[in-house]
Amino acid sequence: MKKRLLILAGDGIGPEVMNEVKKIITWFNKNKSADFEITEELAGGISFDKNGTPITDKVMEIAMASDAVLLGAVGGPKWDKLEFSKKPERALLRLRKDLELFANLRPAICFKELANASTLKPEVVSDLDIMIVRELTGGIYFGTPRGVEKLSNGEKKGINTHTYTTSEIQRVARVAFELARKRNNKVTSCEKSNVMEAGLLWREVVEEIHKKEFKDVELSHMLADNCAMQLVRNPKQFDVIVTDNLFGDMLSDEAGMLTGSLGMLPSASLSGKNKDGKFKSMYEPCHGSAPDIAGKNIANPLASILSFSMALRYSFDMDKEADMLDQSVKNVLRDGYRTQDIMEKGQKKVSTSEMGDLVISKLK
Ligand code: IPM
Ligand code: MG
Repeated sequence: MKKRLLILAGDGIGPEVMNEVKKIITWFNKNKSADFEITEELAGGISFDKNGTPITDKVMEIAMASDAVLLGAVGGPKWDKLEFSKKPERALLRLRKDLELFANLRPAICFKELANASTLKPEVVSDLDIMIVRELTGGIYFGTPRGVEKLSNGEKKGINTHTYTTSEIQRVARVAFELARKRNNKVTSCEKSNVMEAGLLWREVVEEIHKKEFKDVELSHMLADNCAMQLVRNPKQFDVIVTDNLFGDMLSDEAGMLTGSLGMLPSASLSGKNKDGKFKSMYEPCHGSAPDIAGKNIANPLASILSFSMALRYSFDMDKEADMLDQSVKNVLRDGYRTQDIMEKGQKKVSTSEMGDLVISKLK
């Protein structure tokens, strides 16, 4: 059966890193009869330039009908002054919201070979393997009311609203607990229940789901600020971290640096399953569009390549192929090849496209 992939390369380094992913997809079609069918469309600033909107309804329809969306990166200084509804980032937020991708899986894995590239001591991060489950369609990113109001005293007031309902918390908590069962069976739930009502509700709901459905999993609660601190103090204490949209945004960037570079961090965003067990999904690197290095063929494509590996695993049940792709990335690193963001003395510096070719050369 054909597997329909929608590729939205986006802005900045997006097209360059996606190009390497396309080479890998072609390899799988050729050598593993994988039957991936690729459609490429515009999203982000490039879509705004061409169509006056960060993502068109037509592209949204294609996304809805795809088995998985692969996204590069969106945004850049060129579009910074646009109003919110036109900003490139809106494409991303609309995809997340309309496809109902409420569970964002952000693994932070520090390959032994890259332990020295981290700003933390190698023994603190070497062989680190944690999974951040970030709620992706709620919280302050989408809550209303929002906007900027004029006050009668001439001041302005900026407003955003942080909200979570019971079911929004339950469904993302379930994803975290289920993942933990396949890993080290530990979930840390993070919020600010000491200052936020929505945080207190978060804690209560996670607690209740745990008691009712996941007693076998070890659960602990942590205030999000403490979690930020613990992540750099002793990151290996964590297995799965589940948290809201905004805290997840910040904690996953922090976790990214533990691995050596944000250029290494993939992500998967998943919806719930329908009656037939089908779900929507989008895969993207955690890094941004990095306009400062765009077009130079020096960006690290590994986060995008590892995101495609997550697609193989989660959307297409191709665990064996995903393992092989992950192992190929490890082997390339083991052999000393590095893009500039993870470059160290004594290693071999390679370009974006060389890195993609090297990964392919290790596939079997
Ligand atoms: C991320 C990014 C996005 C977010 C931006 C680009 C809107 O930082 O995916 O982490 O804040 O969610
Ligand atoms: Mg972010």
